[in-house]
Amino acid sequence: MRAIEMFAGIGGFRLACDELGIETVWANDIEPKASTVYRDRFGKGVHIEGDVSQLIDQIPDHDLLTAGFPCQPFSSAGKKLGIEDVRGTLFEKIVQVIRNKKPKFFVLENVKRLLSMDKGAHFATILDALSELGYLVEWRVLNAVNFGLPQNRERVVIIGHLDHGVKSYLCTAQDIATSLSVRQIGAVANLSRWPKITDHGAKFHNWGLATQGRFHHAKIDSFSDALPAVKLSAILESDPDRSFYFTEDTLERIKTSEKVDRFYNGVEILYNQKGGARMGYSIFGTAGVAPTLTCTTSRHYERYKIGDEFRRLTNVEYARIQGFPEQHCQTASRYDQYPLFGNAVPPQMVKWVIQRTINKQCVDFQAQVVQEELL
Ligand SMILES: C[S@@+](CC[C@H](N)C(=O)[O-])C[C@H]1O[C@@H](n2cnc3c(N)ncnc32)[C@H](O)[C@@H]1O
Repeated sequence: MRAIEMFAGIGGFRLACDELGIETVWANDIEPKASTVYRDRFGKGVHIEGDVSQLIDQIPDHDLLTAGFPCQPFSSAGKKLGIEDVRGTLFEKIVQVIRNKKPKFFVLENVKRLLSMDKGAHFATILDALSELGYLVEWRVLNAVNFGLPQNRERVVIIGHLDHGVKSYLCTAQDIATSLSVRQIGAVANLSRWPKITDHGAKFHNWGLATQGRFHHAKIDSFSDALPAVKLSAILESDPDRSFYFTEDTLERIKTSEKVDRFYNGVEILYNQKGGARMGYSIFGTAGVAPTLTCTTSRHYERYKIGDEFRRLTNVEYARIQGFPEQHCQTASRYDQYPLFGNAVPPQMVKWVIQRTINKQCVDFQAQVVQEELL
């Protein structure tokens, strides 16, 4: 099994593939600091630094294409959909590679917001472009908290494969049994009655399938493969450098803050300047999980109450929260490690996805309907 990693960053997909014994034969990113980390960790052999648009022709044959692609607007999204509408974007590069190389599988990852951007037109365009290539496309929103990481990080993963039939690789039989009625399962199984992608609504549900310009989606609430929850307090460094602390300053700020003492999406919020979960200036506790790590600088300076003191998270804690080895970004400065980790995909999350996909661990909807009818 040979994989390529487009928009590789620091190699979240690479770590997952390495663990699964899948050889990565080509990887690329335009950003020098991320590229330096990648080469330091995985060797110089397969990584090319530069703009992917200039490198498409060099991409070798492969079985699995992976990409955590940048989220860019499509200029005419929603008008024509499909490949025509993705022209000139980085997403189009993925489409081009899939069309040219016809990998057996692809696994893409992006922010959950993709499902509702432009009133659904953005995701519809993506689905249509991928389904035009002859793949059965499936997406599901996954959360890092279910993969043993102390972080509320919801991401949409989109997979494609050339397997026929109406099959879900991203839901277990238990997920489907607890979330869908027999009638709903029947509706999924009947491909000929799926709506056209062009008839999409303002928001796509957290799970769905698409092929040949049609789609079916549903709300799947359970995740039966979830690992036991890990709290932020379990991964903290015991004695970090004093430069991470801002205790005096925070004590002053707390005087004008409102006490919240509540959990929002598993994140413990102790104080907020305006009392809400999102607005203003929050101080977090460690009895829950961390909010989504991002590449946004302000997020790296968020304050956590740890014991009787207040500090930001360390770069080592960022690595642990995102599921990377602590020294993974050692070639980057401490400051630069935050956005590199914040941008990355948790390897454990995509490992679960890749493993199910290549092993064809799936639920066959048509077979399920037959089974129901026999009962
Ligand atoms: C969301 S990040 C992917 C992170 C990656 N999955 C990881 O685990 O670190 C998107 C990446 O796309 C890269 N990128 C943006 N424009 C690019 C281009 N034109 N060519 C190649 N890479 C590009 C960015 O530098 C960034 O690292």
